[in-house]
Amino acid sequence: MDSTLLSNLHFVFIPFLAPGHILPMVDMAKLLAKRNVKVTIITTPLNSIQFNASIKREIESGSPIELLLVKFPNAESGIPEGSENLETLPSMDLKINFFRALDILQKPIEEVLEKLSPSPSCIVCDKNIACVADISIKFNIPRILFDGTNCFNILCNHNLHTSKVYETVSDSDSLIVVPGLPHRIEMRKSQLPVIFTPGPDKELNAVRERVRTSEATSYGILLNTFEELEGEYVKEYQRVTGHKVWCVGPVSLTNKDDLDKAQRGNKNTHIDESQYVNFLDSWPPCSVLYVCLGSLNRVSPEQLKEIGLGLEASKRPFIWVIRGAYRRDELEKWLKEDGFEERVKGRGILIRGWAPQVLILSHKAIGAFLTHCGWNSTLEAICAGVPLITFPMFADQFYNEKVVVQVIDTGVSVGVENSIHFGDEDKFGDGVLVNRDNVIKAIEKVMGEGEEKEKRRERARKYVDLAKKTIEEGGSSYHNMSMLIEDIMHIKGLNQS
Ligand SMILES: *[C@@H]1O[C@H](CO)[C@@H](O)[C@H](O)[C@H]1NC(C)=O
Ligand SMILES: *[C@@H]1O[C@H](CO)[C@@H](O)[C@H](O)[C@H]1NC(C)=O
Ligand SMILES: *[C@@H]1O[C@H](CO)[C@@H](O)[C@H](O)[C@H]1NC(C)=O
Repeated sequence: MDSTLLSNLHFVFIPFLAPGHILPMVDMAKLLAKRNVKVTIITTPLNSIQFNASIKREIESGSPIELLLVKFPNAESGIPEGSENLETLPSMDLKINFFRALDILQKPIEEVLEKLSPSPSCIVCDKNIACVADISIKFNIPRILFDGTNCFNILCNHNLHTSKVYETVSDSDSLIVVPGLPHRIEMRKSQLPVIFTPGPDKELNAVRERVRTSEATSYGILLNTFEELEGEYVKEYQRVTGHKVWCVGPVSLTNKDDLDKAQRGNKNTHIDESQYVNFLDSWPPCSVLYVCLGSLNRVSPEQLKEIGLGLEASKRPFIWVIRGAYRRDELEKWLKEDGFEERVKGRGILIRGWAPQVLILSHKAIGAFLTHCGWNSTLEAICAGVPLITFPMFADQFYNEKVVVQVIDTGVSVGVENSIHFGDEDKFGDGVLVNRDNVIKAIEKVMGEGEEKEKRRERARKYVDLAKKTIEEGGSSYHNMSMLIEDIMHIKGLNQS
């Protein structure tokens, strides 16, 4: 590629303000900058803290990457100071305020864009920040959607919308076969994303609809996935929608050195990382269960108790990460009064808050990952070659479960039948979706000896190499990134002539 042209390119990244969405996008930005393309990431001050150190290191190593901050409109949107992302909202009643705040960001973002040099050649933004569609029209710059998920997901949503099969069943327990997919995928209506079963809040529904339609008017979609994982779905999505799709993942593999692996995200635990490594070193290969139900999920204490008791009954070593503040006091009270932590001492470690997940997953002692199936975590496990136990709760998580259990066949479902949509937790009684017996059964299906388990482990292991190769020169994700750069360079050339 012509290097002078590269130096005129400028990609602007605008991540959605939720931790699981920010980090993959920052990784993607770093990958692009390593190709000698100028990249600017725009976010708010508090959201930058989890990755600004890693950007600083990139700059020091010569990458043309920059971080620019805009003030989060706390006062204007009615969100208390100190909260700038979806995870830290003091109450879920403020969800709509949060989306209003994203709209208010339009003007400050435009002011930043106006000053950029060279002027932006394209904006890569999360689909949930709807105002960027208006910005891209106003500035006449192509807008590329970053979808934090995979192609399976966007193809399911597309086919459900065009076929409307979900409207043909009224009962939320009814099974729907998602039409037009390479595999036979059955879902309960109650497992579909909230857009298919909208609630009474008209303003929130309007936000979701705006997000959905902005997909159709984007220049293309950038996905954190790779062709070797779901190539059939990539082809089919392109065929039915005519959209450009670039699969450039798994982007978390950019964090090659352990420092980056360890520093990802907030460091708010008091235990140092060597403690986990020492613990893992003391167990045989594939014997330890890693459990983490995500940062955004609001799991009830009753449900967490069932998981804890299941873990205890399994008699297997484990690392259990407990995140989020949802009814946290009640859980802590139980952990203390019940004596759980004391009983599992030596065999189980509890981590409260952030954990060095990539570091843990890549340890040979890990035998399975019980996950909420956020795509971020799911992909990290796939890249580490770890079998999964799937415990989806909402949004794309049920789709991701299908990718793991049916498409690549490296996991087992714990058996969740209904989603609890984000923010609706209090409407679901005790919030118990599966009891301890389901948890034990799923663990036994994956961990330990046996031909079926060994075969699953082999299938899972195969992806370590595939994932590594795809982002190296000659790999398909590497190639897709080149195609993206060339494509934008071509448009820029056209605009200037
Ligand atoms: C994914 O989420 C996990 C746990 O919530 C976190 O430790 C990790 O840093 C995240 N990774 C990315 C790529 O966002
Ligand atoms: C990251 O941001 C925080 C808050 O603005 C600041 O205190 C810190 O110095 C920054 N770190 C780096 C490495 O720039
Ligand atoms: C992405 O890479 C695959 C495999 O190399 C290729 O078939 C596909 O056309 C590429 N996509 C784009 C948009 O260039």
